[in-house]
Amino acid sequence: MPAKIISGKDVSASVKARIKTEAEVFTAKTGIAPGLAVIIVGEDPASQIYVRNKHKACKDMGFASFEHTLPESTTEAELLSLIAKLNSDDSVHGILVQMPLPKHINENAVINAINPDKDVDAFHPENVGHIMIGDYKFLPGTPAGVMELLASENIDITGKNCVVIGRSNIVGKPMSMLLLHKHGTVTICHSRTKNLPEITRGADILVAAIGKLGFVTADMVKEGAIVIDVGINRTAEGKVRGDVDFDSVSEKASYITPVPGGVGPMTIAMLMLNTLTAAKIFAKTI
Ligand code: GUN
Repeated sequence: MPAKIISGKDVSASVKARIKTEAEVFTAKTGIAPGLAVIIVGEDPASQIYVRNKHKACKDMGFASFEHTLPESTTEAELLSLIAKLNSDDSVHGILVQMPLPKHINENAVINAINPDKDVDAFHPENVGHIMIGDYKFLPGTPAGVMELLASENIDITGKNCVVIGRSNIVGKPMSMLLLHKHGTVTICHSRTKNLPEITRGADILVAAIGKLGFVTADMVKEGAIVIDVGINRTAEGKVRGDVDFDSVSEKASYITPVPGGVGPMTIAMLMLNTLTAAKIFAKTI
């Protein structure tokens, strides 16, 4: 039987509706509209699309959105000085610096400069530490979105073999930690992993976050597995597709997320949630 498709489009719409209602209550009570500042440096086309989508989501939520588009030639010092300004701007509750940054800018220095209370990406070491312990206010959008997708189907993670392919700070590492918090037995695979297909075939829940078009094929997937595709790749024809070979894997999996329309819209919904949380931290209502 073909897999059930978990629609990130539908789940994100209901998450955003919930956030919008909650934000309206918050704004009515405090007079504060949650504000998100997004900084983009350079002209990476994919990043430009993400930033546009974030801006649109803010508008839909009734949030204030501040876009800072900086040229590729921006120095690290200039970027750090903008972040310092936004850190002390009371109308800005969340700050997001779109990654990747140009090579001459040290990403860690930039992340470290963001006030942890405004760190809606949850990339700052302080927030990463909170996540590790399981006592956090912010979760990074993509792994948090994956957890929402699993929850939307009432999938119990307890005791399941969870295999995460990819070990990035943005997705793979926090994803593994969230699955562990929900009592999954977690394996993290990466480019140096030996016998990868053997490991992935043991997965009850398989999360693909590699960044390689169609990397996960049906022979790597157990019958009935839950397959979550975090990849966003372009085909030679310019179509957006994931890390999972959807057509073959969907014949074998019990659940699968599509690309586009799977994890992607969830990332933005969770960013909106973090922006509302940041505004609540500012207003001292949490
Ligand atoms: N680039 C790819 N994903 C993300 C994300 O979640 N946040 C930021 N800031 N940059 C990204």
